[in-house]
Amino acid sequence: MILTNEQQAILDGAQGETLAKVMKTLIRYGEVFGADKMVPVTGAHNHLVTSFGLKALGPVYDLMNQLIEAGNVSKQTFSVDPRPLDKKVPANFLQNFIFHNFMYSRQDFYEEQLNKLGLMEKDAFTCTCYMDEVGNKPKKGDVLSWAESSAVVYANSVLGARCNRNSGIMDIMGSVVGYVPHFGLLTDEGRKATWVIEIKTTKKPEAQLLGSAIGMKVMEEVPYIVGLDQWLGTELDDATCTYLKDFGAATASNGAVGLYHIENLTPEAVESGKALIAEDAKTYVIDDAELERVYREYPVIWKNPDAKPKLCFMGCPHMSLQQLKDWTDKVEAGLKAAGNKKVVIPTVFTAAPAVLKEFEATEYAERLRRTGVITSYICPLMYMNNPLSGKMPVITSSNKLRTYTTARYYTDDEILMEITKGGKKK
Ligand code: F3S
Repeated sequence: MILTNEQQAILDGAQGETLAKVMKTLIRYGEVFGADKMVPVTGAHNHLVTSFGLKALGPVYDLMNQLIEAGNVSKQTFSVDPRPLDKKVPANFLQNFIFHNFMYSRQDFYEEQLNKLGLMEKDAFTCTCYMDEVGNKPKKGDVLSWAESSAVVYANSVLGARCNRNSGIMDIMGSVVGYVPHFGLLTDEGRKATWVIEIKTTKKPEAQLLGSAIGMKVMEEVPYIVGLDQWLGTELDDATCTYLKDFGAATASNGAVGLYHIENLTPEAVESGKALIAEDAKTYVIDDAELERVYREYPVIWKNPDAKPKLCFMGCPHMSLQQLKDWTDKVEAGLKAAGNKKVVIPTVFTAAPAVLKEFEATEYAERLRRTGVITSYICPLMYMNNPLSGKMPVITSSNKLRTYTTARYYTDDEILMEITKGGKKK
């Protein structure tokens, strides 16, 4: 790998032993993936994936301490993935005991470390850091050192920034030293599409289902999607960005997609069109039958597949302000049609603290409260990832949550039916 004089000096210890180790780690990481050089990280903010003070993360805290003690704090301020705990989310005595005494007992300590390293502000905990209310929205062409898969795919695809699917800890290292290795999605070649996806559905596909189908097919490759603009239009407005947030998270978790292009819609596709498609790209046609097949093949890993759901999580990735408002309308209408006053399954809508603050300032907040729906800033995955919660029959419209936990995926319409009326999914 070719290094600049400054990079070589850092590697040789000119800025201390700790920063030299950080640089060495990033260079080795790059070499594994064939990087040719190190390039500067740009943009005002970084985003970190490790947000939880898990007891078992001792080595992470040691590493963070070394950085802090050596004065090697992040060159950018950063946001972090969602916090794992919120008293508002229903949990029984045993779950609470485990969350607080075993799993996330180091949360306060870890947040203190994050503060010292450069947290944007005390509540900058969300996976949707790119939302206007949060204020960590990269510009087109920015080079990032992020790791949260749902945020990486959004930044690359919708915003036109450049970021690889890094791992946790690598994200902070890139930001501390100010450079990341140049390979993969940072290169023009790596951003070319090796799959063409043809959308031939008779209605707008469910974002989370379409993303899942594409993710499982292309895995870590780059898809170029044609025919979706007929359902989404050609403007990256609020509704479309929300759709792409959920769609992208499903591609990134059901497969390992870090970038997608949508013809006539996403910035690079608008700019370069079909020139983005690599020679010999493969084709995948998605019609109604294909989406139905994908949906029917999801395994149900509940002990009792006919169990009545005990909890519903919406907002993985975190919901947008408009989503919260739209769902308030939908839940109210669903309850009215069913003749119910409150949701019949405990239901949690999750969103960024900054989005929830804006939501609270609207008349929708009180209306949603009256339906019995709870709002929270947590990451549902962190709630689910333990044997006690894992045994609960939880439903979700998130294909990411379905993939990583025992939660069962329901379409938006099915979720609405379940929480407002009850009734079994066919
Ligand atoms: Fe966000 Fe947690 Fe889901 S980080 S994407 S809410 S798994």
